[in-house]
Amino acid sequence: MKGVVLSGGHGTRLRPLTHTGPKQLIPIANKPNILYCLEDLRDAGITDIGIVLGDIMPERVREALGDGSEWGLNLTYIEQGAPRGIAHAILCAEAFVGEEAFCVYLGDNVLKESIRPMVEAFAQGADAAAVLLARVPHPERFGVVEVDADGRVLSLVEKPKEPKSDLALVGIYLLRPNIFPVIRGLKPSWRNELEITDALDRLREAGSDLKAHVVTGWWKDTGRPEDILEANRLLLDDIEAANEGTVEKGARVEGRVRIGPESTVKEGSVVKGPAVIGRNCVIGPDTYVGPYTSVGDGCRLIGADIEASILIGESLIETPNKIVNSLIGRHTTIRAANDRLPRGQQLIVGENSTLVL
Ligand code: TTP
Repeated sequence: MKGVVLSGGHGTRLRPLTHTGPKQLIPIANKPNILYCLEDLRDAGITDIGIVLGDIMPERVREALGDGSEWGLNLTYIEQGAPRGIAHAILCAEAFVGEEAFCVYLGDNVLKESIRPMVEAFAQGADAAAVLLARVPHPERFGVVEVDADGRVLSLVEKPKEPKSDLALVGIYLLRPNIFPVIRGLKPSWRNELEITDALDRLREAGSDLKAHVVTGWWKDTGRPEDILEANRLLLDDIEAANEGTVEKGARVEGRVRIGPESTVKEGSVVKGPAVIGRNCVIGPDTYVGPYTSVGDGCRLIGADIEASILIGESLIETPNKIVNSLIGRHTTIRAANDRLPRGQQLIVGENSTLVL
């Protein structure tokens, strides 16, 4: 079986972070989101994977993943360009897929449990497609699926006003090449996209069996900043302590904390897990890093106080003001105001930023 991982889209809900690269590369617990998807596929035995690229700095994806050999993968890059829908992105992979069954994985999804059982069942069975579903509190925001007692799909509707169930489509689909002519026959939806829900529903209407699996562990689609922070919490809940750096005398590291090479926790600082600190970071002096924080490579935190947040990397935090539930892009400086007049918050902020002062 082959894999197709989508890394296009515009990620408008994640601006300004997506002005400088695709959202699938945003690190969660210090690892790019897309790598969780690729590792899940690999652990299910799928190593021949096509990555569908969008038009927001797609070269960043190639630079980050290369030929995939570092992770035991064989990667092929496929250009989609502007986002014309998930079904359109899948159609772009037609030549790559050839005659094989394949697993589509949206590159901004994170799943606790392995897709392996679902992949194995599909490989051995004769279903036309299989979808992964999760129970959600607001199904009207998702593709909603109605399922019978045997796990067969009865209907699929994209963002229905009156959902027929609380089962939402998770971004993982098992498909066969007979989906391609169906996609070619689709018309763009009201949002001008070729919808995967429409393609699957047509397949079902034509008499094909679609199998539904419901996720047992957690699942997160990281489309909004709060989803990324929640995924960060869920992933940090499972980390193991490891220290490849230096903890100076007079510093305290408590609970499960992972510290990368060439990083130092300096005197008077406290790091409380679960937390990860990347490589080449300076934490302190007199800094508090609280639970559920991921500090990316090359950050300096001086007299800082941060909790439940993500620092993507190469940032300087030099203020005692507490930072919580924050997602901070690369090369950001946050400093304390000095005493010169006029006093007040001084902000140099890019487009589409959110500041809660
Ligand atoms: P979405 O999150 O629905 O779309 P988006 O990335 O454009 O985000 P926003 O709504 O914030 O503007 O996309 C789901 C996943 O599918 C995501 O990983 C991006 C990917 N995708 C493509 O690769 N190509 C596409 O044409 C579309 C629509 C999405």
